[in-house]
Amino acid sequence: MFGSKKLKVLFVCLGNICRSPLAEGVFRHQVRQAGLDDRIQIDSAGTSAYHLGDPPDERTASVARARGIELDGRARQITRDDFRSFDYIIVMDRQNLGNVQRLAKVTKPKGKVLLLREFDREAGADRDVPDPYYGGPDGFDQVHDIIERSCAELLRRIREEHRL
Ligand code: 4NP
Repeated sequence: MFGSKKLKVLFVCLGNICRSPLAEGVFRHQVRQAGLDDRIQIDSAGTSAYHLGDPPDERTASVARARGIELDGRARQITRDDFRSFDYIIVMDRQNLGNVQRLAKVTKPKGKVLLLREFDREAGADRDVPDPYYGGPDGFDQVHDIIERSCAELLRRIREEHRL
Protein backbone atom coordinates (compact mmCIF):
# COMPACT_ATOMS: atom_id res chain seq x y z
CA MET A 1 0.00 0.00 0.00
CA PHE A 2 1.31 3.46 -0.84
CA GLY A 3 2.77 5.22 2.18
CA SER A 4 3.32 2.08 4.24
CA LYS A 5 6.90 1.51 3.14
CA LYS A 6 9.28 1.49 6.09
CA LEU A 7 11.81 4.23 6.60
CA LYS A 8 15.27 2.73 6.95
CA VAL A 9 17.88 4.06 9.39
CA LEU A 10 21.45 2.71 9.51
CA PHE A 11 23.90 3.57 12.32
CA VAL A 12 27.57 3.35 11.39
CA CYS A 13 30.81 3.29 13.41
CA LEU A 14 34.24 1.77 12.85
CA GLY A 15 33.95 -1.73 14.31
CA ASN A 16 30.16 -2.20 14.67
CA ILE A 17 30.70 -3.66 18.14
CA CYS A 18 30.56 -0.61 20.48
CA ARG A 19 28.79 2.57 19.37
CA SER A 20 26.59 1.69 16.40
CA PRO A 21 25.03 -1.46 17.97
CA LEU A 22 24.20 0.63 21.03
CA ALA A 23 22.66 3.36 18.86
CA GLU A 24 20.69 0.68 16.98
CA GLY A 25 19.36 -0.80 20.26
CA VAL A 26 18.59 2.52 21.93
CA PHE A 27 16.89 3.95 18.84
CA ARG A 28 14.85 0.75 18.35
CA HIS A 29 13.72 1.01 21.97
CA GLN A 30 12.64 4.64 21.46
CA VAL A 31 10.88 3.78 18.18
CA ARG A 32 8.99 0.95 19.93
CA GLN A 33 7.98 3.24 22.77
CA ALA A 34 6.62 5.66 20.18
CA GLY A 35 4.62 2.78 18.60
CA LEU A 36 6.47 3.21 15.29
CA ASP A 37 8.25 -0.12 14.92
CA ASP A 38 6.09 -1.02 11.92
CA ARG A 39 7.15 2.26 10.22
CA ILE A 40 10.88 2.45 10.89
CA GLN A 41 13.48 -0.25 10.22
CA ILE A 42 16.83 -0.01 12.01
CA ASP A 43 20.24 -1.62 11.48
CA SER A 44 23.92 -0.93 12.13
CA ALA A 45 27.24 -1.57 10.36
CA GLY A 46 30.95 -0.79 10.57
CA THR A 47 33.21 0.87 8.04
CA SER A 48 35.89 -1.73 8.85
CA ALA A 49 35.88 -5.52 8.70
CA TYR A 50 37.87 -5.83 11.97
CA HIS A 51 35.14 -7.61 13.92
CA LEU A 52 33.00 -9.29 11.25
CA GLY A 53 30.48 -11.67 12.82
CA ASP A 54 31.33 -10.67 16.39
CA PRO A 55 28.63 -9.92 18.97
CA PRO A 56 28.57 -6.45 20.53
CA ASP A 57 31.42 -5.68 22.95
CA GLU A 58 30.48 -6.92 26.44
CA ARG A 59 30.90 -3.38 27.87
CA THR A 60 28.38 -2.00 25.37
CA ALA A 61 26.02 -4.95 25.95
CA SER A 62 26.06 -4.42 29.72
CA VAL A 63 25.39 -0.67 29.44
CA ALA A 64 22.38 -1.53 27.25
CA ARG A 65 21.23 -4.39 29.50
CA ALA A 66 21.25 -2.08 32.53
CA ARG A 67 18.60 -0.06 30.68
CA GLY A 68 16.52 -3.07 29.68
CA ILE A 69 17.85 -3.27 26.12
CA GLU A 70 19.26 -6.51 24.69
CA LEU A 71 21.70 -6.17 21.80
CA ASP A 72 21.53 -9.27 19.64
CA GLY A 73 23.12 -8.35 16.30
CA ARG A 74 26.44 -9.41 14.83
CA ALA A 75 29.05 -7.07 13.36
CA ARG A 76 28.94 -6.51 9.62
CA GLN A 77 30.60 -4.12 7.20
CA ILE A 78 28.67 -1.44 5.33
CA THR A 79 27.86 -2.45 1.72
CA ARG A 80 26.92 -0.72 -1.54
CA ASP A 81 23.40 -2.06 -1.11
CA ASP A 82 23.17 -0.09 2.13
CA PHE A 83 23.74 3.11 0.14
CA ARG A 84 20.96 2.11 -2.23
CA SER A 85 18.41 1.23 0.43
CA PHE A 86 18.78 3.35 3.59
CA ASP A 87 17.02 6.69 4.01
CA TYR A 88 19.34 7.80 6.81
CA ILE A 89 22.96 6.76 7.33
CA ILE A 90 23.93 8.11 10.74
CA VAL A 91 27.66 8.03 11.53
CA MET A 92 29.32 8.32 14.94
CA ASP A 93 32.36 10.46 14.17
CA ARG A 94 34.15 12.41 11.48
CA GLN A 95 36.41 9.50 10.63
CA ASN A 96 33.32 7.38 9.88
CA LEU A 97 31.93 10.30 7.87
CA GLY A 98 35.09 10.53 5.75
CA ASN A 99 35.07 6.79 5.12
CA VAL A 100 31.39 6.75 4.19
CA GLN A 101 31.78 9.80 1.93
CA ARG A 102 34.66 8.08 0.13
CA LEU A 103 32.47 5.03 -0.54
CA ALA A 104 29.62 7.33 -1.53
CA LYS A 105 31.70 8.62 -4.46
CA VAL A 106 31.35 5.18 -6.05
CA THR A 107 27.76 4.43 -5.05
CA LYS A 108 25.61 7.50 -4.57
CA PRO A 109 23.54 7.20 -1.38
CA LYS A 110 19.78 7.30 -1.77
CA GLY A 111 19.39 9.00 1.60
CA LYS A 112 21.10 11.41 3.94
CA VAL A 113 24.50 10.84 5.54
CA LEU A 114 24.67 12.68 8.87
CA LEU A 115 26.71 12.82 12.08
CA LEU A 116 24.65 11.58 15.06
CA ARG A 117 25.74 14.54 17.18
CA GLU A 118 24.17 16.94 14.70
CA PHE A 119 21.12 15.96 16.76
CA ASP A 120 22.79 16.48 20.17
CA ARG A 121 21.63 19.75 21.66
CA GLU A 122 24.39 19.51 24.26
CA ALA A 123 27.20 19.03 21.75
CA GLY A 124 29.73 21.84 21.62
CA ALA A 125 32.18 22.21 18.79
CA ASP A 126 33.02 18.51 19.08
CA ARG A 127 30.60 16.56 16.93
CA ASP A 128 32.13 13.10 17.51
CA VAL A 129 30.64 10.31 19.60
CA PRO A 130 33.96 9.37 21.28
CA ASP A 131 35.36 5.92 20.50
CA PRO A 132 35.19 4.06 23.86
CA TYR A 133 37.00 0.89 22.70
CA TYR A 134 40.37 1.50 24.36
CA GLY A 135 39.00 3.30 27.43
CA GLY A 136 37.37 2.26 30.71
CA PRO A 137 33.72 1.52 31.55
CA ASP A 138 32.90 5.19 32.24
CA GLY A 139 33.39 5.88 28.54
CA PHE A 140 30.54 3.52 27.69
CA ASP A 141 28.12 5.28 30.06
CA GLN A 142 29.09 8.61 28.55
CA VAL A 143 28.62 7.23 25.03
CA HIS A 144 25.22 5.86 26.05
CA ASP A 145 24.05 9.25 27.30
CA ILE A 146 25.16 11.01 24.12
CA ILE A 147 23.49 8.35 21.99
CA GLU A 148 20.26 8.40 23.99
CA ARG A 149 19.66 12.13 23.77
CA SER A 150 20.84 12.37 20.14
CA CYS A 151 18.60 9.48 19.07
CA ALA A 152 15.60 11.04 20.81
CA GLU A 153 16.11 14.22 18.79
CA LEU A 154 16.76 12.23 15.60
CA LEU A 155 13.43 10.45 16.09
CA ARG A 156 11.67 13.76 16.72
CA ARG A 157 13.07 15.18 13.47
CA ILE A 158 12.24 12.05 11.46
CA ARG A 159 8.67 12.14 12.77
CA GLU A 160 8.40 15.79 11.85
CA GLU A 161 9.93 15.31 8.39
CA HIS A 162 7.78 12.28 7.53
CA ARG A 163 4.67 13.20 9.54
CA LEU A 164 4.82 10.04 11.63
P1 4NP B 1 33.18 1.00 17.50
O1 4NP B 1 34.49 0.79 18.42
O2 4NP B 1 33.67 1.61 16.21
O3 4NP B 1 32.34 1.91 18.29
O4 4NP B 1 32.58 -0.39 17.30
C1 4NP B 1 35.66 0.17 17.99
C2 4NP B 1 35.72 -1.21 17.96
C3 4NP B 1 36.88 -1.82 17.57
C4 4NP B 1 37.97 -1.06 17.22
C5 4NP B 1 37.91 0.33 17.25
C6 4NP B 1 36.73 0.94 17.63
N1 4NP B 1 39.17 -1.71 16.84
O5 4NP B 1 40.17 -0.98 16.56
O6 4NP B 1 39.25 -2.94 16.76
